[in-house]
Amino acid sequence: MNFFSYQNDTLCAESVRLVEIAERFGTPSYVYSRAAIEFAYREFDQACSGRDVLICYSVKANSNLAVLNVLARLGSGFDIVSGGELARVLAVGGSATKTVFSGVGKSVAEMRAALQTGVLCFNVESEDELERLAKIAAELGKIAPVSLRINPDVDPRTHPHIATGLRETKFGVPYEDAPRLYRKAASMPSLQVAGIDFHIGSQLTEIEPFVAALDKALEFNDALGATGIRLQHIDLGGGLGIRYRDEKPPTLKDYLGQLFGRIGNRKLKVLFEPGRSLVGNAGLLLTRVEYLKNGDARSFVVTDAAMNDLLRPALYDAWHEVLPVLRRNGPAQRYDIVGPVCESADFLARERALTVAPGDLLAIMSAGAYGMTMSSNYNSRPRPAEVMVDGKTAHLVRDRESTEDLFASERLLP
Ligand code: LLP
Repeated sequence: MNFFSYQNDTLCAESVRLVEIAERFGTPSYVYSRAAIEFAYREFDQACSGRDVLICYSVKANSNLAVLNVLARLGSGFDIVSGGELARVLAVGGSATKTVFSGVGKSVAEMRAALQTGVLCFNVESEDELERLAKIAAELGKIAPVSLRINPDVDPRTHPHIATGLRETKFGVPYEDAPRLYRKAASMPSLQVAGIDFHIGSQLTEIEPFVAALDKALEFNDALGATGIRLQHIDLGGGLGIRYRDEKPPTLKDYLGQLFGRIGNRKLKVLFEPGRSLVGNAGLLLTRVEYLKNGDARSFVVTDAAMNDLLRPALYDAWHEVLPVLRRNGPAQRYDIVGPVCESADFLARERALTVAPGDLLAIMSAGAYGMTMSSNYNSRPRPAEVMVDGKTAHLVRDRESTEDLFASERLLP
């Protein structure tokens, strides 16, 4: 299914021409397709039918309230990593009892807020965290449901910056420590052992690392069961890759089929924390060409979007397709697509053949996940507007920041 397509040589989001969006809301702007998000969620949900599953959308991928609300209306749960993400979920009517709290550095205030709202589970990542949680839950007179995030020491074969399941990363508790920590958790009156969790990395394009991690978690579950600690759920994290260029990520049917096959008829609810696979290809970054700059060594298209708006190319050398919003005739030339930020790493794409002129609009594709959420104000650049298209209508779902917004909370010395 393609929710961004050319109609008479002009690129559209669902039925809305991107030219019209640029005229109404300006550039750079993130543009999302509601239908694309709904399609991705329903596809995941339907592929799980017949199993006891909860999909917990990973809020960090795209935390715009409209995106969260579209997913909440479909019945999605959420995976959060901060008090800020919890507040967003609650603000859109998301359900705390369908929300899991992940992350290595939960603060006291964040734990309190999550306990007060009654989240489904804390995915605990260290012994210190377990002790802090037990103490705070006891103070509040609550019982905290916990999973331990185990580090299965599996190579996810993805970019090193987004690999999390290897021993040398900061994530999870070492596999060997987990039995002792489960016994400890089970002995603490303010904790309730609820499940087991892993998340081995992001943008995985093979099933084997997921299966290897799951096998370790299942082995663990079975051994725990034999000691009388019965887990209610197993959380397989997120990480399923998408197609940016020519990757061939597993189909949902294969991915889920293999995982469910391993779990067999164990009485475990299965949680997933997909982020990118639900929203990555449901968004693009719309930008306008400011200048063309022809050099001896390279030629550049200078756009009004930059690394502060979309960091992935600079940070991970990530490849995003670049499409002209209006197709032009004429010979193509090879360009690096760069922004106005004062860093050599400020590029959106390299070595792309384009027929382009100043003033043209470009769409940086597959920017729905880890786009706006990783944006910054570097170089005092206001962050883009966000627009969600729903059929024939484009809705502004976040105002473009104003320059005044950027320093509204700063103070001069007396
Ligand atoms: N669960 C946990 C505990 C996570 O840390 C993550 C992502 C997810 C779920 C969702 O993973 P997904 O399904 O989206 O792969 N900024 C990087 C990706 C960082 C992923 C961080 N954790 C990027 O732009 O590629």
